[in-house]
Amino acid sequence: MTAKEKPQIEILFSGADIERRNTELAEEIAADLGQDILVIAVLKGSFVFAADLIRALHYAGVRPQIDFMALSSYGDKKISSGTVVITRDIVDTVKGRKVLLIDDILESGRTMNFATKDLLARGAETVKTCLMLDKKGKRVNNFEADFVGFDCPDLFVIGYGLDFAHYYRELPYIGYIVNG
Ligand code: IMP
Ligand code: MG
Repeated sequence: MTAKEKPQIEILFSGADIERRNTELAEEIAADLGQDILVIAVLKGSFVFAADLIRALHYAGVRPQIDFMALSSYGDKKISSGTVVITRDIVDTVKGRKVLLIDDILESGRTMNFATKDLLARGAETVKTCLMLDKKGKRVNNFEADFVGFDCPDLFVIGYGLDFAHYYRELPYIGYIVNG
């Protein structure tokens, strides 16, 4: 099936589930990191989650500054080390900042492991990570996120920023394609 054919999508987390969880996450983050944080959202997958989470953070009393970075990771098929590279860097300085790194889904752990170390090496005071989804069974290192929206079953999921062949990012829920 190509992405353009009519897919049957099974919903895993509805828009209402996500909204509720974002409110809880924002409270946890506010209690841990305080008001003055630099949010770095990892493109493209986290842009929908980050947009909702920063508004939930507002209601939790946080005054975040926002920046973006794009990271690309090459899987085992291309390079055995699974190298991660920055394809678009942040504009703000992280020196002395409390950073909240936001991404869509934690799988191998390579992307977050790389980004956390990179930002600490650039002088960030702390780097905490917030992942919308965690596919625990897929880790190749011992990376653990500080804040997680939902544990994710071992399925290819789409929606709420996550794509399949650049489609479906706009879905207001997270699901998977059943007839694919
Ligand atoms: P990792 O933790 O370094 O393996 O990074 C996982 C990245 O792979 C995510 O940021 C997504 O861009 C992508 N990804 C992994 N699983 C899925 C999925 O189920 N749907 C869509 N993208 C995925
Ligand atoms: Mg990604």
